[in-house]
Amino acid sequence: MSQAKPFEEIPFVELPANYQSDLGPFLARSYEQYGPIFRTFSFGQDVVYMVGPEANRFVLASHRELFSHRQGWWFVEEMFGDGLLTMDGEQHDQHRRMMNPAFTISYMDHYLPIMQRIIRERTADWVERGEVDIYDEARKITFDVAAEALTGLRAGPEVDQFRDIFVQLLNLGMVAIDEDDYQRQLAALKGHLYELLLPKIEERRQCPTNDVLGMLVRARDEQGRALSDEQLFAHTNILLVAGHETSTSLSTWLLYLLTQHVDYQQRVLDELAKLPEGEPNLEGIKKMKVLENALSEAERLYPPVGNGPRGTFEAFEFHGYQVPAGSQVFYSIAASHLLPHVFSNPTQFDPDRFAPPREEHKKVPYALVGFGGGPRICIGTNFAKVEIKAMVAHILRRYRLEVVPGQEITQFYRTTSVLPNGLRMRVEEREPVYV
Ligand code: HEM
Repeated sequence: MSQAKPFEEIPFVELPANYQSDLGPFLARSYEQYGPIFRTFSFGQDVVYMVGPEANRFVLASHRELFSHRQGWWFVEEMFGDGLLTMDGEQHDQHRRMMNPAFTISYMDHYLPIMQRIIRERTADWVERGEVDIYDEARKITFDVAAEALTGLRAGPEVDQFRDIFVQLLNLGMVAIDEDDYQRQLAALKGHLYELLLPKIEERRQCPTNDVLGMLVRARDEQGRALSDEQLFAHTNILLVAGHETSTSLSTWLLYLLTQHVDYQQRVLDELAKLPEGEPNLEGIKKMKVLENALSEAERLYPPVGNGPRGTFEAFEFHGYQVPAGSQVFYSIAASHLLPHVFSNPTQFDPDRFAPPREEHKKVPYALVGFGGGPRICIGTNFAKVEIKAMVAHILRRYRLEVVPGQEITQFYRTTSVLPNGLRMRVEEREPVYV
């Protein structure tokens, strides 16, 4: 007989009114008070929070077969179709195997020149403009990059139109007046997207390119069947959304942190100055360790995905409590990053915590989980890190950035983290340019 306590005895927390802007700190405080498992009641259902490295390992690795991505990320499926993020079991593994080759670190060689061209072109007029919204600019860059590198769509009015539809879809929950209105607008936007994307998918079928969409249209399952329009539509959507939304906020916060910590920014510039002149190649990008540690610190402090949602296929026990099948579980990325027994002075910006000999993230497995972990770790981790390093290196070497004073800079969690007011920065030419 199990000694574990029943579900009802799992400590209950009331979510505060400012939960969405205080998600990580609030859940980390709850961890200190109640331990790694507690629950709340939200949107008409029980939700179980699991926090900290031990919980992350349980959900992401050791007991991952108990959990359902589809039941956790159901709202993503409703919006964008059934792509890699929402699939479960063997179907997921099969589709992930099709895409994996396009996301290995060596494959990034293929994407880097695309990333660098888009970054160069999109930032070329910043000095002339004098002031830019970095959040807005980062979105244009990351969306153009995802569209071209992953699906072969070249930047221009058509890609801008795709981006606008995705932004409208992501904002729908905030603007729809009720559930009927939400469903009506969702159907209209999805229909529009389908109309626009389907001919692109057909083009790729006729003339497969070397990108992920090209790989997917060529792929065949064990019975020799190709993916359907619906499946290709869903995969393309998820790649375009997951491939830009998260990188947009992380690159914005990284640039913000570097403008607030000028001594560290100088160390990044000194590191960049040691590289050969001109645009760095993949080897150069890999050598940017000072910048990489700042990126990890931005990932820790401002993780674009705050909580990873899961459904539960089977009942389980964790930390002395029973959790029934059918429960909604969140493993909390944002809270796990703020636990003082894992990361010293967790609210402070201190990228050297990731450098040897400290390497705080390696003391316990699953401490830093901004990209998830285990077999379902973000497939785009290499892509995002190479892109963000290329972007930040390019910007810092050429431009001096300063946050425009007097603006309210906030992080707010919807499905992912957003900056509702954007982030305006003044831009000047750096003299001499650091290349
Ligand atoms: C800063 C950038 C990014 C962050 C922080 C991020 C974060 C994450 C996280 C936390 C997960 C796991 C979610 C879970 O466990 O429930 C995930 C999964 C995923 N991400 Fe990312 N991501 C980023 C960039 C990208 C990029 C660039 C792409 C595509 C090119 C991408 C595509 C995906 C996909 C398809 C999955 C589902 C993988 C699977 O379940 O097998 N992401 N991401």
